[in-house]
Amino acid sequence: MTQSIERRPLLAMNQVTQTYALPRANLFGPRPSFTVLQNIDFDVCAGEAVGLVGESGAGKTTLTRILTGMEKPQTGSVTFEGADIWSGDTAHRAKFRRSVQMVLQNPRSSLDPRMRVGTALLEPMRSLKIAGDHTKRLYEVLDQVGLDRSALERYPHEFSGGQLQRVAIARALMPNPRVLVADEPVSALDVSIQAQVLNLLKDLVRNLQLGLVFIAHDLSVVAYTTSRVSVIAAGRIVEVGQPIELFTHPMAPETKNLVDAVLTVEAGLAGTAL
Ligand SMILES: Nc1ncnc2c1ncn2[C@@H]1O[C@H](COP(=O)(O)OP(=O)(O)OP(=O)(O)O)[C@@H](O)[C@H]1O
Ligand SMILES: [Mg+2]
Repeated sequence: MTQSIERRPLLAMNQVTQTYALPRANLFGPRPSFTVLQNIDFDVCAGEAVGLVGESGAGKTTLTRILTGMEKPQTGSVTFEGADIWSGDTAHRAKFRRSVQMVLQNPRSSLDPRMRVGTALLEPMRSLKIAGDHTKRLYEVLDQVGLDRSALERYPHEFSGGQLQRVAIARALMPNPRVLVADEPVSALDVSIQAQVLNLLKDLVRNLQLGLVFIAHDLSVVAYTTSRVSVIAAGRIVEVGQPIELFTHPMAPETKNLVDAVLTVEAGLAGTAL
């Protein structure tokens, strides 16, 4: 295990259980419900990349929504720098909102096609009410993701998929976050371009001491990027380990299935990860 007594997570989810009520099947029966997440513990430290991997419907996006404060957990807590984000402390809540940013799966659909990239990058500053002249920050962030300044004047359709994912990462970096949460950030990209984006994320973790939560259904992609991976199945964490351990000695049957899925596809990133 990579756990040590000194671990001080920046962002953590503690014993979270989330249940949704479903539509009543008949008028007089009890209202059925569905437990999407059960007793979830999950955390990330500064300068650490952690992965969450699981099949479609396992609960990954629901976990992301709770971890980023979009949804309140019914049971359990989410803490940022050790304090509960739902405690009602508005200053702490504002700091959390700035410090934890999401990288979305598909920038083609998440970026407004009529908005220049420069304007899109300033959006988070506006919505988070971060005051000041942000030109310097724009240049800094473009540099960090390897985009040219001319990108600011262009529209999303003028970029390739890989470049556009850099724009999405730049947007997430604008408020100077401590943690990035990336839900399937490369699944819409060609394999040849995936590696470039994954390397960029790895560099950012190292250079900026960011915490990265990397979510995917593909174990090889997660393994390439992170040092600790949690496997989620049907709303429960069934195994946690270093990527190499999970590949070579998967314990849970769900982990074995994910390993098999990778090894039956072309070598691809799996080879690189190992
Ligand atoms: N508001 C809701 N009400 C009822 N069920 C929900 C709700 N939100 C999600 N679910 C169910 O919870 C389960 C987990 O969904 P979730 O989107 O978290 O999975 P996922 O692991 O992200 O899947 P994918 O890999 O397809 O993105 C699914 O069965 C989904 O149908
Ligand atoms: Mg999802």
